[in-house]
Amino acid sequence: APLSLSNHAIKELSESQAFTSSIPSNFHTFRNSDEELRPEDFINEEIPIIDFSLLIGGTAMERSEVIHHLCMACREWGFFMVVNHEIPKRLMDEMLDAFEKFFNQSEEEKNEYINKYALHPIRYGTSVNTHEDKIRYWRDYVKIFVNPEFHSPVKPFGFRNTLFEYAASTRKMGEELLKAIWESLELNTEDIEVALDIKSCFQIIIGNLYPPCPQPELALGLPPHSDHGLLTILLQNGINGLQVKHNNKWLHIKPLPNVFIVNIGDQMELVSNGRYKSVLHRAEVNGKNTRMSVATIIGPSHEAIVAPAPQLVEHDHHLAFHGMRFKDFLEQQQANPLKQRSIFDLLR
Ligand code: SIN
Ligand code: FE2
Repeated sequence: APLSLSNHAIKELSESQAFTSSIPSNFHTFRNSDEELRPEDFINEEIPIIDFSLLIGGTAMERSEVIHHLCMACREWGFFMVVNHEIPKRLMDEMLDAFEKFFNQSEEEKNEYINKYALHPIRYGTSVNTHEDKIRYWRDYVKIFVNPEFHSPVKPFGFRNTLFEYAASTRKMGEELLKAIWESLELNTEDIEVALDIKSCFQIIIGNLYPPCPQPELALGLPPHSDHGLLTILLQNGINGLQVKHNNKWLHIKPLPNVFIVNIGDQMELVSNGRYKSVLHRAEVNGKNTRMSVATIIGPSHEAIVAPAPQLVEHDHHLAFHGMRFKDFLEQQQANPLKQRSIFDLLR
């Protein structure tokens, strides 16, 4: 039977004979001319580098220097690279490998996890929100809630163990980064628990698959968006594709081996009273290689009512956003057509 355009995974589309030279028109992303990549956008600017080992095991002086750097990174970039972290290369490779095996299963096996409800704990799909968005994106994904309750697909063999270990390690790293970011805002780290209820933090792990695309210049893997949580910790398989908006230009972020790319999410913009920005990013596709990424989102607890930190509001003489229960924010954000910066619609 011919592949239907609405029900099939991009992986299967990409491998079918039907679309070897052109892609269906509903994948065409009409980019504004100001969003198009110009050659001068490939400038050699590097995103800030945070040495995690100095945050954990450095002298007080070294830690305070890193925190200073982190403050600049969160304010000016919203993105930074984490090096010398404690997550073994072996585990990073195993996680990418486990997601690859997940996507290599039959459509029947994967389709078991198709679910309409945006907050279903395991959700497999294609594009972003196929019920709401008119344009489709060249991406398959599986989104899994791993904390405070741990969920996992049962197959492929070994997936669950790897996911469990990877979830625990990235959560630990996320908590350390959150403490450091809190410190960089000159807030008392003891208040984190009260403000965000981090012990039962809502953590999601998303495996993304971007198969080779016959017309990569017409489509995107993911449209420009900001992330909803506090922090996103991104692992990539070494293929280019992530672009970050910086000073009004789209910059390529090179996927270096053994590093994580971390970015500020909407909830961090909210608690920081707008000082730290949840920055737009997107994923390009290419004609040759399958790109994979694993995004770990660390959020406050579902029940936390997140609002700008009172000390910052007082200092700034200005309340940038209204507070909201995190779960309500998520439900509204996830169920609606994708907006680039839902934080403005929901909290102002
Ligand atoms: C994401 O924005 O969640 C993933 C981006 C990427 O695949 O690099
Ligand atoms: Fe993202």
